[in-house]
Amino acid sequence: MIKSKLVLGIETSCDDTSIAILEESQGEIKLLSHLKFGQEDLLKHWGGVVPEIAARNHLAKITPLLKDCFEIAKVSPGQVDLIAVTGLPGLLGPLLTGLNAAKSLALLYKKPVIGVNHLYAHLEAIHLTETVSYPYLGMLISGGHSIYFWVQDKNNFSVLGSTIDDASGEAFDKGGKILGLGYPAGHIVDALSQWGDAKKFKFPIGLQSSADARLSFSGLKTSLRVFCEKNEGILEKKPKQYESFEKESQEFYDVCASYQQAICSALLLKMKYAIKKAQSEYKAPRRFPIVIGGGVACNSLIRQAFKEKYPETKIVAAKYCTDNGAMIANYGRIHLEQATPFPECLKLDAKGRFINKKDFNK
Ligand code: KG4
Ligand code: ZN
Repeated sequence: MIKSKLVLGIETSCDDTSIAILEESQGEIKLLSHLKFGQEDLLKHWGGVVPEIAARNHLAKITPLLKDCFEIAKVSPGQVDLIAVTGLPGLLGPLLTGLNAAKSLALLYKKPVIGVNHLYAHLEAIHLTETVSYPYLGMLISGGHSIYFWVQDKNNFSVLGSTIDDASGEAFDKGGKILGLGYPAGHIVDALSQWGDAKKFKFPIGLQSSADARLSFSGLKTSLRVFCEKNEGILEKKPKQYESFEKESQEFYDVCASYQQAICSALLLKMKYAIKKAQSEYKAPRRFPIVIGGGVACNSLIRQAFKEKYPETKIVAAKYCTDNGAMIANYGRIHLEQATPFPECLKLDAKGRFINKKDFNK
């Protein structure tokens, strides 16, 4: 009989504390429990993530969340085969909180640990719901990163191009801040855009004339700021609520839709060059899947536009796009044999940055 695998996943790289217990049995993946504590409400007050405060919130929440997850899953920590924990990249304080929780459990129950690359886990989350084979071209779009990867196999991720300044999620969040929509603003810009005309205003596409897969979003954000300064009164047209259409806010919706369109168009344009580079430098086959993951992959326009342009696109299910423990547990499941055994795992460390100089924007 094939033994089932039980993996505990812990994610604390930024402002979400999320835990999952995943079971794989005869090729079937089942999430026995999956809980998340988001700090958005607590961090709203600061207008963004304050690393020190985020780390303290993780510390306060992680033990009760772990306890609840084991209770819901009806398993004990002694039964898990592996503890998967985000090891990089992210905010160091938050990462260390998760890693230390993982190590404490490893020490108590003599378990192996795997330190997970958060960026790879975002893309590999596709395997939670879809059948996708390697190689694939992964577009990771999140609050901290925007990177096109050539994923040759589960151990080989090469960077085809990335943002040289703001990430696509930052473009949504910083643009949303200028528009007075609070933090994080991606899902609000998305919701308000549905009533707007995306062709009404023209916002710039960064590095439009560079024939490569580099992205740039900082000019876009500046152009929105300048637009709002020139069009006095636009901010007064902000809707009172975001759930239903308000006639007086038409122009505001148009700004949101046009701004969102610029982000989507940039991602589409640079995908073209990422594909070319995959073919010229990585000998990509004629046909391969495209996988999109990360928080910004929740965006309805991006989901629709990529599916239309590239029918072979597979997008991570929206519930697994923003930071979550399931994607970390899933990554552990795929790399079970690479875990660091006990007691060596107690020496694992976290890394704030992901640098792959070899490949970056070459
Ligand atoms: O992957 P994620 O949870 O965190 C990082 O790893 O960075 O991504 C968070 C980002 C935020 O910038 C948020 O505004 C954005 O994902 N986001 C969206 C949407 N939902 C979340 N952006 C655009 N449209 C959405 N529907
Ligand atoms: Zn993330």
